[in-house]
Order: sequence, then C-alpha cells, then structure tokens
Amino acid sequence: MVNTEKFIAKAIEEIKEKSNGKKVVMALSGGVDSSVCAELAKRAIDDNLKPIYVDTGLMRKGETERIKELFSDLELDVIDAGEEFFEALKGVVDPEEKRKVIGEKFIRIFEREAKKTGAEYLLQGTIYPDIIESEGGIKSHHNVGGLPYDIKFEGLIEPLIDLYKDEVRDVAGALEMPVEIQHRMPFPGPGLAVRCLGEVTPDKIAVIREANAIAEEELVEKFQPWQCFAALIGLGTGVKGDVRLHGWIIAVRAVYSRDAMTAEPVEIPWETMHKIASRITSEIPEVARVVYDITPKPPATIEYE
Ligand code: XMP
Repeated sequence: MVNTEKFIAKAIEEIKEKSNGKKVVMALSGGVDSSVCAELAKRAIDDNLKPIYVDTGLMRKGETERIKELFSDLELDVIDAGEEFFEALKGVVDPEEKRKVIGEKFIRIFEREAKKTGAEYLLQGTIYPDIIESEGGIKSHHNVGGLPYDIKFEGLIEPLIDLYKDEVRDVAGALEMPVEIQHRMPFPGPGLAVRCLGEVTPDKIAVIREANAIAEEELVEKFQPWQCFAALIGLGTGVKGDVRLHGWIIAVRAVYSRDAMTAEPVEIPWETMHKIASRITSEIPEVARVVYDITPKPPATIEYE
C-alpha cells in the first residue's frame, strides 16, 4: 500500500522539477488516473498546466458536461471531435484496428491542440498495470513511454507509473478529490467503440450510450462493481407489439476486480436483471434482447473487444 502523503509530496516535487518552469500539456479524460495527474500538476505548477479534453463522440451519457463541471477550476480545453472519429471509423470492424484508428486520430487531434498551447512537457497518467499488460502484448492500448507524437516534447512526466489502480484511488482520496472521481469506474480510451461489435456508427453508439446509462443507474450504487456497462453484441430477432423485428442484442456486464488483471462477474439478483432488461428494451426501441454476461476474466476480457 502506498503512503499517500509521501507519494503526493514526491509527485508534486517531481512534476515541478521535471517541467522546470515550462508549460505542461495533458489529455484529461476524467478517469481517476488522469484526474489525479491533473490535480497533482495543478498543485505543482498551477497555470503552467494545460489540460485538453477530447470529446471523441464515444463518451458516456452526460460525461463531457460533467467533466466540464468537475474541472471548472482548470482552464480545460474541450475539443468536440465526434464527427472526425466517426468518419475515421467507417468500415472498420477489427477490434485492434479500431483501437489503432481511434488512437491515431486521438494523437493527431491532441497534437494539433497541444501545439497551440506551446507546452514543452507532456504529463501522462500511466500506471503500473499498463506496463505489465503492454509487456505481455495483451492489448495495444497502453501508451507506455509516451504516445508516438510527431511533435517532440522536451520530456514526459508519468507520476503514477509505480501505482496500482486502487492506490491511485487512495491518492485521489488523500487529495480530497470528489468521491465521484475517486470511485469512477475505469472507462477505456476508445470509449464505447470497444463495446460496439462490428462497425462503429453514430446510431449504434447512441443505443449503447442509453443502455450503458441504464446499466450504470441500476448497478453502480447497489453493487459497487469495479466496472459495469452495456455492449452491443449483434442483431437478433424480437417481437414488439405483434410485429417480428430485427433489433440489437445488448449484453450487460458487471465485474468485481482488484486491478483488472482478473475479474469475477457480479451475482445480480434476478429481480434486478429483469428490471434492467425491461428498462433497456422499453426505453430503447431499437433493442430486441438483453443478456447478462457471467464469464470471469480469464478466459474472457472485461470489455467485449
Ligand atoms: P480487458 O478488456 O482487457 O480490460 O479485460 C482491462 C481494463 O482495461 C480497460 N480497457 C482499456 N482501456 N483502452 C483503455 O484505455 C483500451 O483500449 C482498453 N481496453 C480495455 C477495460 O475497461 C478494463 O478496465
């Protein structure tokens, strides 16, 4: 377990020392890692911190508005880039290809915006499990050692590199950050796109966003899962009124985990499952069927892609 007081003092010192009076840019997603980084940097270098939030169009319901509110004390640059992402994702179905396309787009947009700030240093919330999973080649999303930017930064600052996720949450607590951030569920960088099997389209993402909000409303408070969400996993036949129709199949997933390396499904009572299925199918007309995923990790991963 990390000694939070010592850690905070050391991290603030590290950010100050490394940035050496220069501007520092970061991509703030509102996840606990980047939020803790932003708070540490705010305390270390104040206005020299230039946080950028890229709205990929793949965010959860109300997320962008909430992040603007939560970080109203930072001069947050909010970039509305949904259209650019959907355009780039046209015809892409392979999960790793999706990550590549989204990662690449993200980098180019961030780069474009970072240049405008004139920052010389890059702050990133890389944590220890990111390194392990990168070394194991499990997924291509962990940006260990910095993203492949074309602009050259003077240096990279990664104050959380030795911490596990639960330690980052402890640090968030010690920094007295809002409880909502301390306990914020991990949300993947490619957002709802890795919860959308097949091609990513604005219509499918809109369905996932609504279903995801329902799953969170029904599960987060009651069960406090490590992570819970809804994914769109295919098209199936359903019947609404007395008409047979094709509708989306939504999978709901809720897991307990310590650090995302392994995970166990949450045992949800039948009654709650019924409520979720009935809300999703009645509130989202395009959905014909709802299933609950009971697979642990391993063998499944937490996300669908
Ligand atoms: P998996 O699905 O590999 O997920 O069991 C482990 C943890 O990582 C998150 N995840 C991602 N995070 N970009 C991210 O930033 C990604 O591409 C990505 N894929 C999975 C996932 O939500 C879980 O917390």
